[in-house]
Amino acid sequence: MIVTIDGVAASGKSSVSSGVARALGVPYVSSGLLYRAATLLAHEAGLAPHDPALLPHLEAQPLRFEPLAGGNRLWLGERELTADVQSAAVDAGVSAVAARPELRAWVDRRLRALTPPFVAEGRDMGTAVFPQAQAKFYLTASARVRAQRRAAERPEAVDEIEAALLRRDEHDRAQSVPAPEAHVIDTGPLTLQGVIDTILAALPQ
Ligand code: C5P
Repeated sequence: MIVTIDGVAASGKSSVSSGVARALGVPYVSSGLLYRAATLLAHEAGLAPHDPALLPHLEAQPLRFEPLAGGNRLWLGERELTADVQSAAVDAGVSAVAARPELRAWVDRRLRALTPPFVAEGRDMGTAVFPQAQAKFYLTASARVRAQRRAAERPEAVDEIEAALLRRDEHDRAQSVPAPEAHVIDTGPLTLQGVIDTILAALPQ
């Protein structure tokens, strides 16, 4: 079985996906982490998203992606990138990387090579990458609520985070549309466990 959990930036997708995956005893897969890895590696190599050298550069890196139920981890050889890709600089650059069709195809190839069952989390998991998924969800919340949640994890002030989230929503709009059959959940009034329980209750038996 494949369950897809898509949604806007900082809507709680990773925590919710991890909780659902743990309840089901399957891994979860954070597609955003691969876009973040591409962005960090591009920055470190001094390559712009549209540089034709970027895709061959990414293909040549010893990048390893561990989609564990408790949390996804990224490695470049022996160096762990998991924390490095969760920075304001990567937040600011990732949409431009994600807008490149060849880089979306690079991420999608890695995702489609995984063996189900799993929970896949991102923007277009239920639409473009796993349209055959048995259950699809789409998480939303107001920009303020999302900024307040993210402020607990980042050094920047909540207003600055909210402005950056709204910019990223705008840039991500094209690839972040709910599948027509997705259950749309406003996570604003719910606790993390409340969102997880709502999803578990809606899964096909
Ligand atoms: O989910 P997360 O915030 O880590 O995603 C980082 C970025 O990766 C998003 O802002 C978006 O630009 C891109 N992304 C995407 N498609 C996905 C997952 C993430 O375009 N399926």
